[in-house]
Amino acid sequence: MGHRKLAFNKMWSRRFLVYSGVLLLPIIVIFLYTSTHYVYPRLNVTSSGARDIITTTLQQHKSERMSSNMTISKTCSIKINSQCANLMTLRSETLTETTWLPADDKNDTFVFSAFYDSKDSQVLLVGLTSGGVHSTCQMWYMSDDGTDFIMEESGLLVFKSLPETHDNRYAATLFKCVSQLKRKPTYISVAENSCRQPSSLIVVKSTDTPQTYQRRFTLCLMPIHNNYNDSYALVQWIELNLLLGADKFVVYNYSSASNIGIILDMYTKRNIIEVVQWPIPVKDVHYFGQVAALQDCLYRNKHDSEFVVNEDLDEFIIPLKENITTWAKLIDHLNGGAFIFRNSFHLMSSGNKTFYNISFAEKFHLSTLLMSRRERKLWLHKQRSKYIVRTSKATSLMIHEVPALPSDARETLMPEDDAIVQHFRNSDEHVSLEQTVADVTIRDKYGQQLINNVQRAWENIKRVV
Ligand SMILES: *[C@@H]1O[C@H](CO)[C@@H](O)[C@H](O)[C@H]1NC(C)=O
Ligand SMILES: *[C@@H]1O[C@H](CO)[C@@H](O)[C@H](O)[C@H]1NC(C)=O
Ligand SMILES: *[C@@H]1O[C@H](CO)[C@@H](O)[C@H](O)[C@H]1NC(C)=O
Ligand SMILES: *[C@@H]1O[C@H](CO)[C@@H](O)[C@H](O)[C@H]1NC(C)=O
Ligand SMILES: *[C@@H]1O[C@H](CO)[C@@H](O)[C@H](O)[C@H]1NC(C)=O
Ligand SMILES: *[C@@H]1O[C@H](CO)[C@@H](O)[C@H](O)[C@H]1NC(C)=O
Ligand SMILES: *[C@@H]1O[C@H](CO)[C@@H](O)[C@H](O)[C@H]1NC(C)=O
Ligand SMILES: *[C@@H]1O[C@H](CO)[C@@H](O)[C@H](O)[C@H]1NC(C)=O
Repeated sequence: MGHRKLAFNKMWSRRFLVYSGVLLLPIIVIFLYTSTHYVYPRLNVTSSGARDIITTTLQQHKSERMSSNMTISKTCSIKINSQCANLMTLRSETLTETTWLPADDKNDTFVFSAFYDSKDSQVLLVGLTSGGVHSTCQMWYMSDDGTDFIMEESGLLVFKSLPETHDNRYAATLFKCVSQLKRKPTYISVAENSCRQPSSLIVVKSTDTPQTYQRRFTLCLMPIHNNYNDSYALVQWIELNLLLGADKFVVYNYSSASNIGIILDMYTKRNIIEVVQWPIPVKDVHYFGQVAALQDCLYRNKHDSEFVVNEDLDEFIIPLKENITTWAKLIDHLNGGAFIFRNSFHLMSSGNKTFYNISFAEKFHLSTLLMSRRERKLWLHKQRSKYIVRTSKATSLMIHEVPALPSDARETLMPEDDAIVQHFRNSDEHVSLEQTVADVTIRDKYGQQLINNVQRAWENIKRVV
């Protein structure tokens, strides 16, 4: 009896082994497959024990547009920290600091720029997706002497999808790729499949907080488009913001006319403007990819600028208190992570001929000095509001607010007595014309200085033309 029970048990334990083996095998296979593709053992960077050493040719990188200092020796070996057995080559002509690149073969996902976050050992990529992200990141680490590379692959994951799509197919998205080597890759590429030869390499920038920032306030200007040509508005925007404390402007260019190019060139030479070409590859996205441009502007400036400011060409964040004329004075005593300002529209139809220097204001189309009345109504915070944000605290931006600040970074809803966004549109649509107030703050605080600076700017521009 005991004998038979033992045999029975033995039979069942054998069957159990077989059945569980059959059941577990696919799981083990899947585990091994994914682990060979996406999970890597710690790699000894200095040893030559990596699987493949492939020698390739890299020409010295020549592009002058590139701001990073890249010296690449003529011949580099690539140690591939992955299962790729095929030959991979790096071609210097495919290097790019930023441009729109497809991340797959179906046009589901595109990426634009890449930034290394050393705290979490991950590369964040600014991009767009319509869903179904299924690409591979290839991280390329250059050795200190520039003689060889290590390539590591990992899955392209969604770090944060930004909600402001306005019912368009593509959503601005931050992607992440985790570095197992826990250091900043020199370049990154994205491909539909693991081991695929990259079509382009994006330079990876650091986002580490520096000891001291190069700049305090950097403005982000959303993609100018429609062959943009209002040169007077652009000069007014730059010069008035310089008086408010702007140190630099990042201008995203989808399309603009040649007169704008001349102005941008002049300020670029003075190191006041950085133009980022923005050839967004899809139409079905909100406002030429404005939300993606905002993310790029935040990460691009994390290492250099204490704050970024988001406002449009016809918007100005204006301190209203009597002796406060700059953003620094406005917020320096506050310890917030983001400062949100309420919006108020000025009236297109409110020309006020009492300004003592009206002829100069008219000559240079200075709407901020000419449109002297605004609606009494102030839009609520986060409705059409704009903001100043501390770059070290934000991980993403939206058009009218800063989402998901960490607990140690307060969001300050600025009281309207301190400052508001003054909005000078060339239409009175949306403006409540019944209830208006005279507001000549800009005229009183900055009027003559603005006229002098705008006049000087146009003299410089005319000299170039
Ligand atoms: C890396 O490889 C070198 C040479 O093979 C060896 O001397 C060193 O101990 C290794 N380092 C680590 C951290 O494994
Ligand atoms: C770039 O590298 C060259 C040579 O290594 C060096 O002389 C130069 O100062 C570097 N420039 C910057 C901006 O780091
Ligand atoms: C992806 O977009 C490119 C450029 O617009 C186009 O040539 C290509 O046919 C598209 N591919 C697919 C699969 O839609
Ligand atoms: C600027 O573009 C508008 C149309 O968008 C056009 O009516 C106007 O003539 C252009 N101005 C100049 C100076 O080219
Ligand atoms: C802006 O983009 C347009 C369209 O690509 C291009 O023709 C123009 O030269 C660019 N302007 C500047 C200043 O880069
Ligand atoms: C502004 O400054 C002036 C001159 O320094 C001073 O007389 C005035 O009281 C100040 N106003 C406020 C509100 O602090
Ligand atoms: C015109 O501007 C003056 C200040 O220069 C102001 O006192 C007056 O109220 C303004 N008038 C209108 C109609 O806005
Ligand atoms: C108006 O501005 C011009 C240019 O800066 C200046 O020369 C002139 O003196 C100003 N007019 C008055 C009345 O201050």
